[in-house]
Amino acid sequence: MNILITAGPTREPIDPVRFISNRSSGRMGVALAEAALARGHAVRLVTGPIAVPAPPAAERVAVVTAQDMLAAVQANLDWSDALIMSAAVADWRPRTPSPLKLKKNRMPAQLEMERTPDILQAVAARKGGRVFVGFAAETGEPEEEARRKLQAKRLDLIVANDVSRADAGFEVDTNRVTLLAADGTVEALPLMLKTEVASRILDWVEAHAGFRA
Ligand code: PMT
Repeated sequence: MNILITAGPTREPIDPVRFISNRSSGRMGVALAEAALARGHAVRLVTGPIAVPAPPAAERVAVVTAQDMLAAVQANLDWSDALIMSAAVADWRPRTPSPLKLKKNRMPAQLEMERTPDILQAVAARKGGRVFVGFAAETGEPEEEARRKLQAKRLDLIVANDVSRADAGFEVDTNRVTLLAADGTVEALPLMLKTEVASRILDWVEAHAGFRA
């Protein structure tokens, strides 16, 4: 299969030296890319600024902003049989980034913000027979919110990610997730390495795509 994976955060500029972002390190997306490559799939990996090395065997597309990531996903979607959006895309960006560094005594007390494009919603109409997998990073009721996103973003599978504990979610090597499929099946996985989570997600993608190695 040709698998398009997004990983890491996006950065939304305030000025040339400051930005809004989040704690995503890229570990989960890189684990997915490594697992997919090990199974013989071709991987294109769209990354924001990640803190871990990307596997050399993946075709890498490095991006910075949500807008850049949207363009990269749109450009590579036709090639793909599956899209896995593990990136933590910033939901908001400053409406008018300053072209010059803002002096600290001239920093506005409030920044005017606007929404970034929703990448999954933007490509939903081009899904066709592809498998679409999203993640939902939640601190409250992970499953409830993930179920809402599964429907709103017209996904085949959503990986509900409980990021309220120190051993799961952002920056660490372990994760605790529940897989919720569009057909209603739910599988809660225990705490495991992100490499193992990646393997379980790929098992699901391969089965759903009718793929056998
Ligand atoms: O990178 P690590 O340090 O290993 O951390 C892994 C992780 C916690 C970032 C990862 O496991 C994870 O949960 N990624 C999704 C985080 C997230 O942004 O979730 P969300 O609930 O805000 O978004 C829901 C889905 O929509 C995601 O698939 C996201 O990629 C996608 N999205 C979000 C915003 C946006 N503008 N466009 C999108 O397509």
